[in-house]
Amino acid sequence: MRGYFGIGVEGISKEQNVGTIARSAHSFGGSFFFAIQPDVNIEAMRTSDTSDAFNHMPYYQYASPAELALPEDCTLVGVELTENSIEMPSFRHPLRAAYVFGPEMGSLSPATLERCDHVVKIPMKFCVNVGVAAAITMYDRMICLGRFAERPVRPGGPMEEAKKPKPHNHRRKVRKKK
Ligand SMILES: C[S@@+](CC[C@H](N)C(=O)[O-])C[C@H]1O[C@@H](n2cnc3c(N)ncnc32)[C@H](O)[C@@H]1O
Repeated sequence: MRGYFGIGVEGISKEQNVGTIARSAHSFGGSFFFAIQPDVNIEAMRTSDTSDAFNHMPYYQYASPAELALPEDCTLVGVELTENSIEMPSFRHPLRAAYVFGPEMGSLSPATLERCDHVVKIPMKFCVNVGVAAAITMYDRMICLGRFAERPVRPGGPMEEAKKPKPHNHRRKVRKKK
């Protein structure tokens, strides 16, 4: 997978969602996990997390959106169902990105939305569970940036030939005749 990504949550209040999102982030190859003003003791959870995710990803906690600090050149992507959000299937995921999700009973705060370089939504009739939204986002990133064989036009998997990685195209040097 090209680039890297981090996953963050704002105002999250359920341990189960933190565990699910951290586990998904670890599984999809996330590089770090962060929380802004969590309403649950994530520090305590880190020792009891069954997926061991917190042993493999750095965790950062911020007391407010203003304190959020990301790596240089890392693009902050808010995932929120707003009228003006970009529809995820039409969104080009940045190579270096951090995705932030809102609380179970609310939405991303105006201060966090203000800090986002992009805000995207999963086109749906209504909000899904934050853990589901996080998993869909990571899956969409993987489809967008991963190196997979093209989907065939007919139903089913790619032909054997299409599964092979494309050979590297060494640019041939052409010598001019004197
Ligand atoms: C369950 S939703 C919050 C509830 C919602 N604001 C409401 O009251 O209807 C929790 C978080 O999941 C994310 N989320 C859920 N469904 C989404 C969607 N369809 N598109 C983008 N984000 C979504 C957002 O980050 C949201 O803040």
